[in-house]
Amino acid sequence: MLDFAIQTARDAGRILAERFGRKIEISNKSEIDLVTESDLASERLIIDRIKTYYPRHSILAEESGATDPNGPENQNDWRWIIDPLDGTTNYAHGYPCFCVSIALEHQGKMEVGIVYDPLRDEMFAAERGRGASLNGRRITVSRTMNLSAALLCTGFPYDVRQRSEFARHFASFIMHAQGVRRDGAAALDLAYVAAGRFDGFWEEGLKPWDVAAGALIIEEAGGRVSNYRGEPLDIHTPPVVASNGLIHDEMMHVLTS
Ligand code: IPD
Ligand code: CA
Ligand code: CA
Repeated sequence: MLDFAIQTARDAGRILAERFGRKIEISNKSEIDLVTESDLASERLIIDRIKTYYPRHSILAEESGATDPNGPENQNDWRWIIDPLDGTTNYAHGYPCFCVSIALEHQGKMEVGIVYDPLRDEMFAAERGRGASLNGRRITVSRTMNLSAALLCTGFPYDVRQRSEFARHFASFIMHAQGVRRDGAAALDLAYVAAGRFDGFWEEGLKPWDVAAGALIIEEAGGRVSNYRGEPLDIHTPPVVASNGLIHDEMMHVLTS
């Protein structure tokens, strides 16, 4: 199933890359939340593939919601969680930072996580208990010990204007960390924590498909993912703080003080 997820993410990523920069149809899901024809085409490919190879599995996908072949009361033990294009705002503006995210959950536990950046051809992958990799090579989180030496990343949820706390956290991290970035693709941000490019990440208001794959990849790369109270992440209840583990407590201190 890992190989299936890798191949599917690669093919969906090809769809995104081929259309990137061309004139495409864009519509608004809310005031600042967009969906493009590429989100839909990528999601269609992924779902068709799953239905062909794993027809009994359940699916949770950003654009089409939940699909349970045996009816809504009968979710299968296996469930695919999909973000067909993470970084839609970037994509719609021609900013080259986006990815496909595919996770496979079994009885509520994430077993496989894939984040694929088609422009850089970077495939981040993890399988529970078997480590994390980038294009087949093992990756591990960074060894940065202190927040003052850390490069962090965050994201602004689409309802950020209703979240007064966010500006306070952002200001505080700017003062305490070495640097803070906002790349606009949460799944890729998490994969970068796993690869040691970022030392930590936080964001409120994320959805299951934003974090399902990235969180497993971080854990398998030796990092830590939790909510702002330090409890294990529940993908259905954001917020999320993710790190190399070493700066986790310092990050939570900023978020809770
Ligand atoms: C969004 C991106 C962004 C994050 C938002 C997400 P989308 O996902 O991951 O970085 O800040 O909270 O909703 O809409 O591009 O798939
Ligand atoms: Ca997303
Ligand atoms: Ca998306």
